[in-house]
This record gives sequence, structure tokens and C-alpha cells, in this order.
Amino acid sequence: MNDLLTGKNVIITGAARGIGRTVLELFVRSGANVWACARKPDTGFEEEIKTLADAHGVWIEPVYFDLSDEAAVKEGIQRIIREKKQTDVLVNNAGIAYGGSFTMTSMSKLREVFQINYFAQIQIMQLVLRNMMKQKSGCIINMASVGGIETAPGYLAYGSSKAALIYATKTASHEVGQYGIRVNAIAPGLVETEMGSYKSDDEIEKILERSSLHRKASPEEIANCALFLASDRSSFITGQTLIADGGRICV
Ligand SMILES: NC(=O)c1ccc[n+]([C@@H]2O[C@H](COP(=O)([O-])OP(=O)(O)OC[C@H]3O[C@@H](n4cnc5c(N)ncnc54)[C@H](OP(=O)(O)O)[C@@H]3O)[C@@H](O)[C@H]2O)c1
Repeated sequence: MNDLLTGKNVIITGAARGIGRTVLELFVRSGANVWACARKPDTGFEEEIKTLADAHGVWIEPVYFDLSDEAAVKEGIQRIIREKKQTDVLVNNAGIAYGGSFTMTSMSKLREVFQINYFAQIQIMQLVLRNMMKQKSGCIINMASVGGIETAPGYLAYGSSKAALIYATKTASHEVGQYGIRVNAIAPGLVETEMGSYKSDDEIEKILERSSLHRKASPEEIANCALFLASDRSSFITGQTLIADGGRICV
């Protein structure tokens, strides 16, 4: 337990599993209250977050919306804003992986990946930022990927959606810095989650071979990056992409 986020109210998307779930647990252990956003209602998840909240003396509220549904995203975030609580931190974490060669990626698939990995993230940022601008404080963390920095064959949709998110992070940081709001991104390499096993074993082996640490990250290692960026320990850092990839060597 640390007190890096004591009293802070945090929105986390994709909070039910993977990196988002680990961010939720670490942030709660650091004193944060959380709006835990997930795609679908789940009583098991609700029981688990209630136990977690009670154990740490904070509140965790489930909020459900599908990122592919613009109206549902708006309703979900507006529901949070209507509570009229301070919105201190947004962790825009949810996302999907997609592999497909340049010429074989259909326009509809490209749109689907961009809807979830980019348009929905921008929509959430816009809604939350308007509130943060009124507050004159706030912090946004976008979960990008080294896939948005390195170019790799076969990842047109995923890579360009994450590259766009990194651009949005920088441009938003320029516009809202005057309101005391920081906007940063994290670019993980391979992480031990379901998504981290999306590539073939061969591809994973090659990536790990040419990285300095020769292993995937644990979700905790990525959650620790988010904790640093969400806390006042990073109070002079904005517009940055924190690369946490175990020292991947671009080829
Ligand atoms: N794992 C890696 O190796 C890696 C590397 C670089 C970057 N990242 C990024 O890190 C973030 C989290 O990834 P992860 O590894 O935790 O992946 P994950 O285990 O596959 O989890 C993805 C999360 O996103 C949510 N999500 C996906 N589509 C959604 C939709 N349409 N509406 C609402 N929620 C949706 C999922 O919710 P459901 O449970 O409902 O599906 C889940 O909570 C992603 O943005 C990913 O691109 C991951």
C-alpha cells in the first residue's frame, strides 16, 4: 500500500481483465477511487471489485459500455460526469489487436480497429477533458504500444491506430497544458496478457530475442508506469510516450 493516489478519482477503461485490471488493483492499493469501465455487466466482476474496495476503504463503481458504440460511450462517460465528482485521472486502456497485411486489410476492419483503438479513445478524452478543463486539473494516460512507433509488416490497422493515439496524446497535451492537465501515453512491448499471446510463437520468440531483457513484461510492470504518470511524481511530464518494452531493438 502506498498513498500516491489517495483521494484521486480515476476512470479506467478495459478494467475487467489484462493490463486494465492490474492498473485497477494497483491504483486502489494506492488509495484511488475508480470508475471501472468494462464492456458488459458481470456479477463476478462486481463482487470482486466490491471486496477490493472494502479492503482498501475506497469506492469502485462499474460502468459498462462497448467502445464500438459511440452513443453508449457517450452515455457511459456522461453518467460519470453527471455525478459531479472531481475526475482526476483517465486511463484510456481498452483496445484490440489485429494482424493483417497491408493489401488484405479491408476498409471495414481498418474502421473497426480505429473505432476501438482511436475514435472511442478520442471521444472519451474529449468528454473527460471538458470536465477537467473546468476543474483546471487532470491527467490522462493513453495505452498506446511500441506497435505505434516501430513499423512491422502485417500490422497496418493496429500500428497506425496506436501511432494516431500517440499523435493525439501530444497534440492534446499542447492544447490543455494551460489548464493544468497532463496527457501522456505508455507504449508497452509484449505483455503477459491474452493480447500478448496474439502473435505466433515464432514471432514472439524473434521479438524477445532482439530485446535487451529477453522476456515479456508482467502487467504489474506496465501498471507501475501508469501509477508514476498518474501521480504527482510525474508532475512536470506531459506530451510524452513512456516506452516500456524491455529494450526492444528496432530492425
Ligand atoms: N498485451 C500486450 O502485449 C500489449 C502490448 C502493447 C500495448 N497493449 C495495449 O494495452 C491495452 C490493454 O491490453 P491487454 O494486454 O490488457 O489486452 P487484453 O487482455 O486483450 O484486454 C483488452 C481489454 O480491452 C477491452 N476491450 C476490447 N474491446 C472492447 C470494446 N469494444 N469495448 C469495451 N472494452 C473493450 C477488453 O474488454 P473485454 O473483457 O470485454 O473483452 C479488455 O478489458 C490495449 O490498448 C493494448 O493495445 C498491450
